[in-house]
Formats: sequence, structure tokens, C-alpha cells
Amino acid sequence: MPSIYLNKLNHEEISRRRTFGIISHPDAGKTTLTEKILLFGGAIKTAGAVKMNKISKTATSDFMEIEKQRGISVATSVMGFEYDGFKINILDTPGHKDFAEDTYRTLTAVDSVILVVDCVKGVEEQTRKLMEVCRMRHTPVIIFINKLDREGIDPYDLLHIIEKELNIHTRPLTWPIGMGAGFKGVYNLFTKHLLLFTPHITRLSDDNFAIDDLASPELDKRVGTDSANHLRKDIELIDSAYEPFDKDLYSEGYLAPVFFGSAINNFGVKELLDTFISIAPSPLPRLTDLREVKPEENEFTGFVFKIHANIDPKHRDRIAFCRIVSGRFERNKFFYHTRLDKKLRFSSPTAFMANEKSIVEEAFPGDVVGLYDTGNFKIGDTLTEGEKLSFQGIPSFSPEIFKELINKDPFKTKQLEKGVRQLSDEGVAQLFIRQPGNVKIIGTVGELQFEVIQFRLLHEYSASCTFQPLRYFKAFWFTSKDKAQINKFLSINAQHITFDKDDRPVFMAESEWHYKVTREVYPLLVFHNTSEYKG
Ligand code: G4P
Repeated sequence: MPSIYLNKLNHEEISRRRTFGIISHPDAGKTTLTEKILLFGGAIKTAGAVKMNKISKTATSDFMEIEKQRGISVATSVMGFEYDGFKINILDTPGHKDFAEDTYRTLTAVDSVILVVDCVKGVEEQTRKLMEVCRMRHTPVIIFINKLDREGIDPYDLLHIIEKELNIHTRPLTWPIGMGAGFKGVYNLFTKHLLLFTPHITRLSDDNFAIDDLASPELDKRVGTDSANHLRKDIELIDSAYEPFDKDLYSEGYLAPVFFGSAINNFGVKELLDTFISIAPSPLPRLTDLREVKPEENEFTGFVFKIHANIDPKHRDRIAFCRIVSGRFERNKFFYHTRLDKKLRFSSPTAFMANEKSIVEEAFPGDVVGLYDTGNFKIGDTLTEGEKLSFQGIPSFSPEIFKELINKDPFKTKQLEKGVRQLSDEGVAQLFIRQPGNVKIIGTVGELQFEVIQFRLLHEYSASCTFQPLRYFKAFWFTSKDKAQINKFLSINAQHITFDKDDRPVFMAESEWHYKVTREVYPLLVFHNTSEYKG
């Protein structure tokens, strides 16, 4: 294990980095909030300058729309910028539910998240799923309740719903004064400042007044006596109902500080950003199969969490996105690809600053570099300076839709085979093989991926295919200390066993009932619904 720790300069680089993701149910305001944050960072000059990795909800099966978005999304996959002495890296996550797996993987590369909730709609389906992933990883979460310029759910009720449905404690750090047409602003309980809201004005700073004592007549003057009294009551209630904000509980993922605002009006965003940089964690250690790697370690390590292939046949490049975990990444230095047992060096690693790409000479923990790839990388691959370890925590989740891949052109079998393997390495979908007959089963979380696969196999590998729907419910990996029971299970259930890309057996349950009965019949087997499990 490397024992030498970095010099002071590198420590400083690490502690000033904040790498996070903004997540939400589609339409809650993730894109708008990201843009406003970039505006504060001076990374863009006007709103609308950055088109995010956003696939319109109306385009559920408009493939060309996806492609247009995919092109744009490379540039916005990582948005790095400097703000107040901090280097901020926002990792973009696709909002569309069919790309949820992509989002889950990106969440393995962040150190914290900001969750956007629409105050009118409250907790929605994707909000729940994304928070489940955050909770699994104990990711620190800050909640931004958006669209206060609209008449929404009462703030107390909303916090109650969030706590109950997302299974996380909350602590408001700002509190709204009114809502919708009567929205006057927010009071910051943390800094004891009043922020006044003026609709339709986009500004880089809010009207901001220090009000240490809420009894002060200054408050009445600013917001009117009725609103002032209302706020006084609200704050009294909050202070009695909630414990003071505890940063440790936030860092451990148990407590989410809550901010209220309106992203479109750029209101409450600076409050959020300033608190974020002060409380959000700098790059965190990460687990490998051997040990925990700390960012301060001398030697470089990193892992690939996303691969983007350019599907234009004239430009067949792929970019592997590598999150740096420790040490210093350097251009043209040889690094060790632990799965392939091979040394690689990168002559044009890319850094992403807002919507611009540029070649970088060096990068630090928390940063993401784009590595041009000719097919060496799979999602989850690890790079080091020689130590043979593998980062954990990039699981595949059980797909929800399964289809058999049917080859339409027997002369292109090899191309199809190669194509489908590469697409599964990229994480477009999961591939399961059933024997006998080498039957290829594609598993995804959304229908859109099947279109993507069909299109890409044809255009990139000249292989044409169709899909035959299969009635599987879910795929389960399994383990047991009892070898005999595993063998019995495998032989009796052969027709329900497939093999994943790493050749591990997977049980394909046909229904929830089938899964339940199987568990009862084989009590010594432990079933896992993600590909990464302990023993
Ligand atoms: P998403 O990335 O989470 O999917 O959401 P996005 O930012 O695209 O916002 C979804 C819609 O909500 C957009 O309207 C956006 O303008 C609006 N919005 C965002 N923040 C606020 C807010 O604070 N208040 C109000 N009232 N609306 C907000 P749209 O009509 O779908 O798109 P557009 O034509 O405005 O771009």
C-alpha cells in the first residue's frame, strides 16, 4: 500500500474541489438551476447558453432527438468552473427515466448531490428512485425546493412528505415568506439574512438584509406586518421542531439541509451555492476490492464511470470519463489498466470547463478527465500507477425490460456479436447469454435503449437485428455458502439461468411470485438485485 502522502499543494487542490450532481424528477428545474449556478461561476454569460443532457419528455421514442441530445451531452457531461476559490465540478445526469442507469452510475462519481423538488408537484417517481441510490451510498444531499413563485404545497407539509417518502431527515436553512403570487422572499436561518424576491428580474445578487433579531421592525418594513408576523411564528416553530443543523449528519447522508427558491428567477440560488461550497464534502475516499483509497495518496488512481461513443461513422471515437480518486493525473504518463493488465498513456486527456473542452496537463482528485478510447475501457475499469486493485460501487442494477436479440443477417453474426458486447461494455444495456444456443438477451430500464441498440448496431457494425419480448420480471445474481444447493439450483432451473458479461450465472425470475417461491425452495441461496454484492 502506498504510504507516501502528497505535498501541500496537492492537499490544497483536493480541499478546494467540490464534485457533485444535480438530480431531480424531469421538469422540476434541474437544467434551469444548473444554468444559474454556472452563471454565478462566470462559466457562462447568458442563460440558455448551455444545453443540458436533457431529453424532452415528449420525445419518448424520437430517436433523432436523442441523438441530437447525445451530441450535446458530451460537452455538458462534466461542467467544471471556478467559484470563490473553489473548483466546482457538476456531473450532469440525464433526466429521462429510460437513462436512469446512466444517472445511477454517474452518482458513483460524485461526492454529494443537490436534489431539486418542484414545490407544486412534491416528491415524484424519479425523486424516489434517485434518493434510493443516494441513500445506498450515504451520499450527502442538499434539497432545493423550486418554483416558489408558484402556488405549491405548504412548506411544512412538503418537508413532512419528503421526510416520509424519501426516508431522510430534513433541516430548513432558508424559509419562504409566502408563495406563488404572494411570494416575498426567504429568510436565511443560517446567516440570519432576509432575501427579497422581485419577480421577473434576473440578477446576480439578491436584495439581501441582515436581520439578526426577527422582532426587529425592519422586518415589518420590508415584508409588511402580516408576512412578518407569519414568518416569526414559522421560525419559532422550526426552531422548536428541528434540531440545529448538524454538518456531520449531513456528511453521513442522514440529514438534508433544505433551501427554498425559484431557479428561473435566479432566486435563492446564490444562497444555495454559498452554503454548498462551505458544507459539501471535498473529494472522498473510495473502496476497492483490496482497500480504501484516500484522495491524499501520492499515487494516481481513478475509475471509468461513463463511456460516450460517437455514433457518427466518420468519427468513431469514444470518450471514457475517468473520475480521479487519488494522486495526480498527468498527460502522457503511463498508467496501469488493472483489468487488462496493460499500461496505457493518454496524449490528449480532456478537461471540461462548462461547455468547452480542452486538453489538460494534469488533474486532481474530484476532477473528471475524458480519455479518448479505442475500445480498451468498460464501465467500472480502474487505472492506477501499478497497484492491482479495482474500485467497487459501480453496480449494474437489475434491468426491467428483457428482449431476445434476433439476428436478421446470418452473414453478419460476428459483427453483431462484437457490437452488442461493446455496447454492453459502454453500459447502453446489459447482455445476458442463455445456453444452449448462445441466446442473447438484452436487458434495459427503458424502451428507448432498444431503439438505440438497433440503430447503433446497424450504423456502426452493419448488423441488423430485431427484438423478441421476453416475459422476465427481474434478473437476480445469487450466492451461497452451500455449493451443493447452488449446483442443485443451477441444474433444476437451467431454463431460467443466463450468464452476465462477466460470465456469472444470473437467475431470470418470470414474476414476483416465481421469485418468492424460488427463495422459499432454496433458502440457502442469497439473491441480489444488483451485480455488486458482498460474498
Ligand atoms: P429539468 O431539467 O428538471 O427537466 O427542468 P427544467 O430546468 O428544464 O425546467 C422545467 C420547466 O420548469 C421549464 O419550463 C422551466 O422554465 C420551468 N422552471 C424552472 N424553474 C422554475 C421556477 O423557479 N419557477 C417556475 N415558475 N418555473 C420554473 P418549460 O415551459 O418546460 O420550458 P421553457 O420553455 O421555459 O424552457
